[in-house]
Amino acid sequence: MIVEDEVTTSSVSPAAEAPIIALSNIVKSYRMGDTEVFASKSISLSVPRGEFIAIMGASGSGKSTLMNIIGCLDFPTSGHYSLDGVNIRQLDDRHLSRIRNTKIGFVFQGFNLIPRMSALKNVELPMAYAGVKPKERRERAIMALRLVGLGDRLEHQPNELSGGQQQRVSVARAISTNPAIILADEPTGALDSKASTDLMDLFTELHAHGRTIVMITHEKDIAAYASRVVELRDGSIIADRRQVATKSDGTSNGRTGSRD
Ligand SMILES: Nc1ncnc2c1ncn2[C@@H]1O[C@H](COP(=O)(O)OP(=O)(O)O)[C@@H](O)[C@H]1O
Ligand SMILES: [Mg+2]
Repeated sequence: MIVEDEVTTSSVSPAAEAPIIALSNIVKSYRMGDTEVFASKSISLSVPRGEFIAIMGASGSGKSTLMNIIGCLDFPTSGHYSLDGVNIRQLDDRHLSRIRNTKIGFVFQGFNLIPRMSALKNVELPMAYAGVKPKERRERAIMALRLVGLGDRLEHQPNELSGGQQQRVSVARAISTNPAIILADEPTGALDSKASTDLMDLFTELHAHGRTIVMITHEKDIAAYASRVVELRDGSIIADRRQVATKSDGTSNGRTGSRD
């Protein structure tokens, strides 16, 4: 069950209170001929640990731009970004890719699984990049796949799984490195409504177990699962509200086997 505590700080230690994502005055502009297009216009956003935040906005409002910056896939033109206490601008490419591999679990609209590779191997892959030893990789991958309800599909390849199951594999892959944040870009965009609901129940469960989730969506009923909704328009934040998250069945579905 979701505890709606309006982000009380009572039981949180000072270290844990530092926001996991701290964006201040983020500007991203592109030069198009002799005009400058501003995809982000001085965005400031602070995300505390354990929040489930949905970023909404129409096409062209700057969602992907912001996502790429949060995911360390792109740099802002100006402004400051720190992720889990690390100032991103200080990092060279090697450190940046290390941050991406260890601090961020990506979930994409198109799943981005490797074809002809089993679910298990797909989940193991980012851990290999993160330097996790083979035996531990295997164990953690199995645990993550069980957690998402795919303990009986370890050897299935992506084309032998439904869209919903493929997205679950990608969630297992995202959580296997135990990242600081899960960054999901339109994760239900390619799913039918049943699979979307199932995926949002899984996110709700991960959130209930303390995961920080940043999710882009343009669908209101998907954003309803988040505990906070930020709305973008023309590169600016025009709304930022906390809400009581919706859950499709109101009960715990019991899939979770462990806390991490
Ligand atoms: N590489 C780029 N070069 C020029 N303009 C861009 C580039 N990327 C995005 N933009 C512009 O920035 C704005 C925001 O784009 P984007 O972040 O992709 O929006 P969204 O994901 O919300 O659809 C749009 O006007 C888009 O045309
Ligand atoms: Mg986009």
